[in-house]
Amino acid sequence: MADHAETKTAETPSSTAKPTGTATVPAKPPVKASAEKAAEVTTPDRMRRRVIWTAIGGYLGVNFLMFLRFFFPRALYEPNTVFSIGYPADFGLGVDQRFLMTNRVWVIKEPDRLFVVFARCTHLGCTPEWKPSENKFKCPCHGSGYDSEAVNFEGPAPRPMDRAHVELDPTGKIVVDTSRLYVDDPNAGVNHFNDPGAFINV
Ligand code: FES
Repeated sequence: MADHAETKTAETPSSTAKPTGTATVPAKPPVKASAEKAAEVTTPDRMRRRVIWTAIGGYLGVNFLMFLRFFFPRALYEPNTVFSIGYPADFGLGVDQRFLMTNRVWVIKEPDRLFVVFARCTHLGCTPEWKPSENKFKCPCHGSGYDSEAVNFEGPAPRPMDRAHVELDPTGKIVVDTSRLYVDDPNAGVNHFNDPGAFINV
């Protein structure tokens, strides 16, 4: 009996042993080492992602601003060319500058007529200045001078400043239209300053 028990005990280990020549499974790396390696790989990845998303965000932001810009066109808002300036009795004799800033005109009243001068130098288009102490208009750009009726007498301006169309509306107010100008050009042999609409009688 004792011999039989010894034989059984000796065979047990050999039955669980792996056969010689089969592939071996590689041992797993330690958990701590793999975490460190993952951290090393992840940090540059995160940076790269952040840079990419920042670039995309910037690109979309710029495009959005350009889209909004369409709602604010670079339009030049000019004043109406037709406007009312009040009654003839609202003006005293001489040059009135009330509508220079808003409509670029001077209203000039004389004893028998009233006319409106478009404030544009006939040399190159600057806006002259009215000099009450010298009783003349003076262009700051190249020195052209105009008398109190806006007729040129010095400097390079080739002709008097133009006059705007004027008429009275049914209530007696003066209506000015700067899209209709009356020209006096001695070089061309034309003078429309006495045409109907170039002035009103007062
Ligand atoms: S633009 Fe007025 S003098 Fe030249």
